[in-house]
Amino acid sequence: MALNFGELAYQPRWPNPKRWKDMRDGLIGPGNIAQSAHLPAYQKLGLKVVAAADVNPAILERMRRRWGIEALSTDYHAMLAKERLDVVDITVHERWSDMKLDAVRAAGAAGTQRPG
Ligand SMILES: NC(=O)c1ccc[n+]([C@@H]2O[C@H](COP(=O)([O-])OP(=O)(O)OC[C@H]3O[C@@H](n4cnc5c(N)ncnc54)[C@H](O)[C@@H]3O)[C@@H](O)[C@H]2O)c1
Repeated sequence: MALNFGELAYQPRWPNPKRWKDMRDGLIGPGNIAQSAHLPAYQKLGLKVVAAADVNPAILERMRRRWGIEALSTDYHAMLAKERLDVVDITVHERWSDMKLDAVRAAGAAGTQRPG
């Protein structure tokens, strides 16, 4: 697939901190780093993580039990299409440029653990 990053803002707008508590965050690949860093920090800030997608069902079960996230999917496309997210965190190992584009198109903002 030919990738065109020209459509993306190089410097995304910072969300208004007053709106944080209204924002809907979704996770793609919430393994070690998301569970040890992202989720505890977001919980502390009061940021709502409403959905998670992971190819591993055991991770999804942990999202439900440990973090109370109810909207779970093994297909990140389905999560992006359904959940009306404001921001997406991508914490998979691969470069997944198409995943980043999909997330920005669906939510408007995405954060990733990998620069590529
Ligand atoms: N910046 C940092 O300080 C820092 C620190 C730790 C890890 N990392 C990076 O973060 C990334 C993740 O590390 P980790 O230790 O959390 O890995 P991890 O293996 O624990 O988690 C990755 C998750 O992605 C899931 N996954 C893989 N392909 C998927 C797909 N197509 N759709 C949905 N889910 C998918 C896996 O099932 C797994 O649960 C790595 O690239 C790592 O290098 C960065």
